[in-house]
Amino acid sequence: MGEAFVLTQQSELAPYAQDETEDLIYFPEVVVKPQSAEEISQVLKWCNEYIVPLTPRGAGTGLSGAALPIYGGLLLSMERFNSILEIDEQNLQARVQSGVITEVFMNAVEEKGLYYPVDPSSKGSCFLGGNVAHGSGGPRVVKYGTIREYILNLKVVLPTGEIIWTGANTLKFASGYNLTQLFIGSEGTLGIVTEIVVKLIPKPAQNVLLLASFTSNEHACEAVSAIFRAGITPSAVEFMERKGVEWVMKNDGVVFDLKDQVAALLLIELDGPSLDALYETGEQLNAVLEQYQCVEVLFADTTSQKEELWRMRRTMAVSVKANSVYKEEDTVVPRAALPQLIAGIKRIGLVYGFESICYGHAGDGNLHVNILKGTMSDEDWQHKLKKGIAEIFELTVSLDGTLSGEHGIGLVQKEYMHLKFSEVHLNLMRHIKQVFDPHGILNPGKIF
Ligand code: LAC
Ligand code: ZN
Repeated sequence: MGEAFVLTQQSELAPYAQDETEDLIYFPEVVVKPQSAEEISQVLKWCNEYIVPLTPRGAGTGLSGAALPIYGGLLLSMERFNSILEIDEQNLQARVQSGVITEVFMNAVEEKGLYYPVDPSSKGSCFLGGNVAHGSGGPRVVKYGTIREYILNLKVVLPTGEIIWTGANTLKFASGYNLTQLFIGSEGTLGIVTEIVVKLIPKPAQNVLLLASFTSNEHACEAVSAIFRAGITPSAVEFMERKGVEWVMKNDGVVFDLKDQVAALLLIELDGPSLDALYETGEQLNAVLEQYQCVEVLFADTTSQKEELWRMRRTMAVSVKANSVYKEEDTVVPRAALPQLIAGIKRIGLVYGFESICYGHAGDGNLHVNILKGTMSDEDWQHKLKKGIAEIFELTVSLDGTLSGEHGIGLVQKEYMHLKFSEVHLNLMRHIKQVFDPHGILNPGKIF
């Protein structure tokens, strides 16, 4: 691979010992930075022969610890796989390497009037390959679907070193088990994705952005399902608790007139071909929001106003974390169960003595729960809190939800998997892992 691409010094390894997950640190013994599928194949064959754990890593923006080399060994960074290989305007497809930054790719296709709508908050730094590994989402899922809707085919190096394409570059696939979908969300445990064939859509010509404020979390969350029942499909419906907004104002210098009676906000985007039609939908939307004690609805007129509101939402995770030691859990329920979920999370917080700040993709029933350590003792934080988190997941499951909507299971949510899945179910997953990775060398200790 060349000396420059094999790191062994402690100072060189340090940037690879952490991702964006809480305060977790695990050093790899060696970092390798291959540049081709063939090089990855050779590394994996060697790891298989000597039973050395290998953890693949994209940009390290993950929130579940999936890229942490918890057993040491090799860490394989995909940072050199950064080429957009082809944008096929005939078929509305693109072929890219997995280390391309999501926003770089979005901008490249937008220059051709095309759209790739899967834009997590970390879009400015995360890699498409990491997005594939986690089945990523983001604000626009509510109208356009997750990354699962946009991946047609993947080039993968298997743990045993063989290189395959998982499917076909077609919009339909009825040709046996769908390995493409199996690899999406597999968190780097089944193989290493090197190339991705992506489906694109035409770019919507116009959008408008509204910010609605409410007197309670429940009212804001009840309004969410009412919007869809009224026949409106926004391109984003994002929930933000008051405290989250306060932290963004404090930490990121976002200027916003937050009224005293406001407890929660919804950031709602509508997109489509014409502004007139969007304004008309905006009126209908207003009528729905008024039924849920909406304090006010602000329309963002200019591009800079829109950018500022999106900045408020997208920097929330970072701002909240700047405030305290924290744990972040990702919950998702059917959309109409959101009011019960958030009320339950607050109730559990009172019982266990923790403060939480919730925000997320309300249109998808997907709530990110940031639990702050605040005044909790170290003992309670380490031990008692686990029971509280388990109760949050039990509630989520009782509402027909699941553990994670988009951050993945990785390291930090795996101890709660049994709350959702039976041993039969988990064993099916373990057996699948074994078929692909008989020696258990690839990203061991993740998911289950
Ligand atoms: C967000 C990330 C944390 O929604 O998923 O901002
Ligand atoms: Zn999110």
